[in-house]
Amino acid sequence: MKARVTAHERYAVADIDPRLYGSFLEHLGRAVYGGIYEPDHPTADDNGMRGDVLELVKELDTPVCRYPGGNFVSAYNWEDGIGPKDERPSRLDLAWHTVEPNHVGIHEYADWADKAGIDMMLALNLGSRGLDEARAFVEYVNHPGGSYWSDLRKKNGRADPWNVKMWCLGNEMDGPWQVGHKSATEYGHLANETAKALRAFDRSLELIVCGSSHSDMPTYPEWERTVLEATYDNVDHISLHMYFENYEKNANNFLALSEKLGRYIDTVSGTIDFVKAKKRSKKDVTISFDEWNVWYHTRKQDLSYLHGTEWRFAPPILEDVYNFEDVLMVGSILNTFIRRADRVRIACIAQLVNVIAPIMTRTGGGAWRQTIFWPFKFASHHGRGTALRLSVDGPTYDADAASGVPCLDIAGVHDADGGTLTFFAVNKSGAEAMEVDLALDGFGAAKSVEHTLIKHDDLQATNTEDNPDNVAPRKGDGATLDGGKLALTLPPHSYSMIRVQ
Ligand code: AHR
Repeated sequence: MKARVTAHERYAVADIDPRLYGSFLEHLGRAVYGGIYEPDHPTADDNGMRGDVLELVKELDTPVCRYPGGNFVSAYNWEDGIGPKDERPSRLDLAWHTVEPNHVGIHEYADWADKAGIDMMLALNLGSRGLDEARAFVEYVNHPGGSYWSDLRKKNGRADPWNVKMWCLGNEMDGPWQVGHKSATEYGHLANETAKALRAFDRSLELIVCGSSHSDMPTYPEWERTVLEATYDNVDHISLHMYFENYEKNANNFLALSEKLGRYIDTVSGTIDFVKAKKRSKKDVTISFDEWNVWYHTRKQDLSYLHGTEWRFAPPILEDVYNFEDVLMVGSILNTFIRRADRVRIACIAQLVNVIAPIMTRTGGGAWRQTIFWPFKFASHHGRGTALRLSVDGPTYDADAASGVPCLDIAGVHDADGGTLTFFAVNKSGAEAMEVDLALDGFGAAKSVEHTLIKHDDLQATNTEDNPDNVAPRKGDGATLDGGKLALTLPPHSYSMIRVQ
């Protein structure tokens, strides 16, 4: 199979917001307890945070992490997580049917985020609670002192405010499963009033309003229109979520789902434009795609637990073990975000540790990189700069999600300061290698090229604690430079990163 691609220095989509490589940690399963926090672990620091996990998180270089939920946040009392640990209440978490001891709260999370070099993105409970608790939390976190909540923070050991900029106005409020689920009209009103109150506290906050939980929701995309019409003037981003599954074990259909993702972004972008025009507004609202990942490997088996009667502490739920096929899907998802970097400014892989995550741990044992760690790390490290508008001409295939799915899924990023061009390429064809002619126009003479390849003969191959490098990158030999042209050979079903200097 052959494809022709042209990259031109002046054909740009947008400067990529580094927050495109954000992540998410929820009080769910072993994400927090047994994930980032395990006081008895041999690598734990004075705060009980696992050092081995922290090192892997740092390796991903994720600039922002959303917390504390997810569905969990919609019945969460943030005040339960402050003050002396032994006085904090244990609560029943209604979202995941677990017992929440509140040993980790905002102070512990903030210290961990600081150590990891991560900016916090905090979610507010607009399910079981509302405006008043939201404004109290923001005051506790961000006000320097001299008020009830800020002085309480000081009393609890933190003198300086954390100055958190990004605040989510609830989570998946369109979902009937959500505690305190609302109609678009009800939610739009509450979100707008909450946004107004928070803006009265600090105009510079970045506020994120809930869009749809996925594009199959019956209320999509009318939800976005109604909610944006209610909140447009007071919010900065609209949140979208999407998870990808392959129950039928059909690689072609699975890998085509990135087209569905692209359509979702396009439709919501159109809805934003519609509301902007209707309001005669000059302001742009952008997309915070703050939950995305492959999620299906454990979904059915988790149901028996979630629908059971037992209340457990940190049960091993949503612990998808990712395979090589998921590397291709995650690579395509990240490519889709890069290609829409003008509209998607924030995106958070859901989640970061143990729960549908690139990092896996054994409680009391090791921590290792899941297969999907690699495409995320490569995009996070090298997908920074300007997203290029590539012209791509190549073979396509038809699938359930879309017709004319390009077999070559490619995104390009120009880092003008570093003088580097990076291409992320997924060959979605399992049958044939892809020969790519890639013309580089206007970038100046290229001197060298590096090819990093992830390829495994078995789409189902996984990484485990005993075999952590089963699916891992290696140096490829499929890229050569010839004047202003790059020639690539991408093996069937493979992920490649090509870096040109
Ligand atoms: O990430 C797991 C869950 O998926 C989140 O709690 C929720 O927001 C979404 O439905």
